[in-house]
Amino acid sequence: YSATTPYTTLPSVLLVGPSGAGKTALLTLFERGPLYRPDQPSSPDKPSVAAPVAQTRTSQASSTVELAVGTSNNTTAGNGGGGAHSSFRTDLDAVGATAKKFLLVDTPGHPKLRAHALAHLASASASGTIRPASVSVTKSSSATEQNKSKLKALLFVVDAAALAEGADGPALAASAEYLYDVLLTLQRRLRRGGGSRAPPSVPVLVAANKLDLFTALPAPLVKSQLEAEIGRIRKARSKGLLDSGAADDGDVVGPGGGEEADSWLGSYGSDKFSFKEMLEFDIEVDVIGGNVLGEGPGADKWWNWIGERI
Ligand code: GTP
Ligand code: MG
Repeated sequence: YSATTPYTTLPSVLLVGPSGAGKTALLTLFERGPLYRPDQPSSPDKPSVAAPVAQTRTSQASSTVELAVGTSNNTTAGNGGGGAHSSFRTDLDAVGATAKKFLLVDTPGHPKLRAHALAHLASASASGTIRPASVSVTKSSSATEQNKSKLKALLFVVDAAALAEGADGPALAASAEYLYDVLLTLQRRLRRGGGSRAPPSVPVLVAANKLDLFTALPAPLVKSQLEAEIGRIRKARSKGLLDSGAADDGDVVGPGGGEEADSWLGSYGSDKFSFKEMLEFDIEVDVIGGNVLGEGPGADKWWNWIGERI
């Protein structure tokens, strides 16, 4: 394993989502994987944050770590895993595994700082590459990969407990609005890139986080709530589009190729929004629940999802 692979470009995975959803906590968990012990006792005089999660302040800037996911033929090394991919708790160096390296890029969720994350996506447009911020190397000795990286996947982290307030709470609107912007950016990226050299599509995982909290919505409800809210946003933002375009002859909408269609998320003119519509643009959207802290399904499914797409 010590032989260094002469790679030129590491793939990257982007962490986006509203402030407080747990992006930095998740990055920290994956980064410290082999050391992470979820069974640390939490006491009332200590803050609610378990020891492994270092930084939980609101992020001001993007940060990047280099990680490695084991390939399917090394799970026999025995860490209790058994899945298709080694757990992020596996010390890949110790196991001697053949690992696929990638960059995980954390972005700030504050609305005023989001432009940065969306710029990552937009700049990924033509080439499919992004330029991550400074890489802090964790599981490898190589720090050379600063420049270009192929964007392979996007994790949109949401706070499933905050979403439980439903349409009355601020979290649903905020999360859905940000997700709408992200999906529309990805969709446009594909259209613009059109022709024979369309950029490779970027799959999206909506990570419904904080399922350790009993108030949290289960993943299927997170999905339906977000879909409904995105549908409302789409309707509101397109009011002008549909009204002016097709008012006269009763045709709801033609098969648009123009500006209207470019501003419409998903299947043009459809009534209710569903994530499946994004498949028209080759964008896969999955919703999987989990948690970074506390007791629950954990983060392994998210890790495996990444592993399958790197
Ligand atoms: P920004 O940097 O502002 O965009 O937020 P962020 O998405 O990076 O959130 P961060 O990781 O800082 O987590 C916000 C708060 O949620 C912290 O107090 C975390 O400890 C907490 N948190 C993160 N994941 C979980 C979880 O799975 N369960 C619980 N109960 N709390 C969590
Ligand atoms: Mg953060």
